[in-house]
Amino acid sequence: MHVLTVLDHPNPASFSAAAAARFMEGAQAAGHTVELADLHAEGFNPLWTLQESEGDTPKDVLAEQDRIARADAICLVFPLFWWGMPSMTKGWVDRVWSWGWAYDQLDDREVSLQKPRTGVLLIPAGARSDEIEQEGYGQSLDTAWIKGTLGYFGWSPRRMELLCGSTGSLDRRQALLDRCHQIGLTLPEPGSGTRPNAG
Ligand SMILES: Cc1cc2nc3c(=O)[nH]c(=O)nc-3n(C[C@H](O)[C@H](O)[C@H](O)COP(=O)(O)O)c2cc1C
Repeated sequence: MHVLTVLDHPNPASFSAAAAARFMEGAQAAGHTVELADLHAEGFNPLWTLQESEGDTPKDVLAEQDRIARADAICLVFPLFWWGMPSMTKGWVDRVWSWGWAYDQLDDREVSLQKPRTGVLLIPAGARSDEIEQEGYGQSLDTAWIKGTLGYFGWSPRRMELLCGSTGSLDRRQALLDRCHQIGLTLPEPGSGTRPNAG
């Protein structure tokens, strides 16, 4: 498979950057080709524009859509910010997976204009997993993204992996990076599942 990893972090020394690198190493070890979209390094503009609000797709969005067209699997790596996506990832999703290209209806979230692609979200988070589960944050993120959004993009199967405690001990971080490697190594084929495998 050809695997596109989309990284949202301005700091190459961040945990998010390390998570993306380990995931890609795993995917390569499994025999996949890899491509990195480093959104900050490339200067992607996350702001929705007047041009696209009028239905005209700008060149930078077309370039991202070309990258997606090449991919059989997509992995988004972004740190959890206020129980949501940071602005860069949010803008990339809003602008690139557009109405008329990714989807053209809202009544069935499992119907997309795009071919099935394996989808993974790797999300470093400061909170511990017990905090996240006790408060129901994991469930609400799963509902919003895995259930409510990514089916429109054709992602199947899709998986959300919260990398909880990413600001913790070195051992903890190492274990999380090993998990990223394993996820890259064991990526399922597109279309090999309908319902998400929430992590
Ligand atoms: C603006 C901001 C908001 C954050 N919000 C959350 C949050 O809602 N939940 C959480 O668990 N961690 C939150 N964090 C912690 C980050 O997820 C954590 O710093 C990040 O995963 C560490 O990875 P990095 O080295 O790649 O930045 C937040 C951090 C920042 C800077």
